[in-house]
Amino acid sequence: MPASPHHGPGPPARTSTTLHRSGRAPVEHNVRVTDTVSTTYDVARVRAHFPQLGDGPGLGAAHFDGPGGSQTPDVVAQAVHDTLLAPLSNDDEVTPAERNAGRAVAGARSAVADLLNADPRGIVLGRSMTQLTMDLARTLAQEWGPGDEVVVTRLDHDANVRPWTIAAERAGATVRWVDFDAGTAELDTGQVEAALSDRTRLVAVTAASNLLGTRPDIPAIAALVHAAGARLYVDGVHYAAHVAVDIEALGADFFACSPYKFLGPHCGVVAGRPEVLEPLRPDKLMPSSNQVPQRFELGTPAYELLAGVTAAVDFLAGLVPGEGSRRERLVGSFAAVEEHEDRLRARIEEHLLGLPGVTLHSRAARRTPTLLATFAERDPQEVRRHLATRNVNAPAGSFYAYEAARRLGLGSEGGLRVGLAPYNDDRDVDRLLEALDECLRRA
Ligand SMILES: Cc1ncc(COP(=O)(O)O)c(C=O)c1O
Repeated sequence: MPASPHHGPGPPARTSTTLHRSGRAPVEHNVRVTDTVSTTYDVARVRAHFPQLGDGPGLGAAHFDGPGGSQTPDVVAQAVHDTLLAPLSNDDEVTPAERNAGRAVAGARSAVADLLNADPRGIVLGRSMTQLTMDLARTLAQEWGPGDEVVVTRLDHDANVRPWTIAAERAGATVRWVDFDAGTAELDTGQVEAALSDRTRLVAVTAASNLLGTRPDIPAIAALVHAAGARLYVDGVHYAAHVAVDIEALGADFFACSPYKFLGPHCGVVAGRPEVLEPLRPDKLMPSSNQVPQRFELGTPAYELLAGVTAAVDFLAGLVPGEGSRRERLVGSFAAVEEHEDRLRARIEEHLLGLPGVTLHSRAARRTPTLLATFAERDPQEVRRHLATRNVNAPAGSFYAYEAARRLGLGSEGGLRVGLAPYNDDRDVDRLLEALDECLRRA
């Protein structure tokens, strides 16, 4: 096998062979010797899997840069390593090396399907969300023409804007923009409704802004989009790192995400409904299968990264002890992570608001634990550099949410973004707050 499925965090493990929880196949996995049953989120247990955090001798950086890319746990790196060192060739049925490749692909489709509550037959795997979205925009636009309309928002990352505006322009279709309220950071569903018409072909909207954390009401938007006879493409890159995704409940026709934002390796995923993908005809070469979803995947997959994706999903499913299917354990984990991250976010937010000259732009009623701040007396880049001298990583910029940054009136320096991830703890927050005090109170 390319890599043993790795379970979630726990004390040092021994290896054994048992029946996988799904009951489908006997697999090797790590069994925890002394599993502690706890209903609370044990962040120390999670952090033990991240050597880069340096909880041993010599403290590593406090990472608030998760929205740009999360840190990777040992079990994910191990799965990538194991896959490369096991026999591996191109996906086929004859040799163990061929079967290992096939297992890596099937494992990742099934893991991502559990993560998103999606059909594994609609999981398209690729290099990045950007690459997959560009490809899909080109494909969907084959059916567009003059008079057709495509809706994008000013809240979105450029990866869910430009692929659609480029494709629309080539097809002669019209682009309609939906704005958000810079004062409240909310994207009003009514504004989306106002942008729809009987010529709307596609609406592209984020499930959570990587700049502000705002979580638009996707189910309500989906109902409107579908009533207008259009398709909904949801950017879930930032959202999937914080919430148990349910693409059925969201009503997304396509949901894009990037495993490197949720503790996995650097690659991208689009989950599409198989019946929506089936009629689409992407440009492809003869060697690519004509099946869905393989039709949308050009060239040889990064098998080792796909094994890492599966390991990341298994790790997420084990963030808190729990029973049941992987999907059920994922839902339990995300509930615990949300609570943990929200508590830390509230600590940071309260402190920031007590500091002189701070503007907090993240204000939406429903949002991820991601805060964007600017300062009356300090350039965000200067604050970021000061934090770095204290080994606290929180970047500043617009984070490719260009339209949103412009709408907020941020200059070229953007804002300071503080994002939380499952491995952040109170000590990280203490370090951040202390470093912010030093920088902002001496203004
Ligand atoms: C919200 C959002 N969408 C899309 C992307 C692009 O993802 P990828 O790097 O996989 O192309 C990012 C990356 O930062 C993001 O934060």
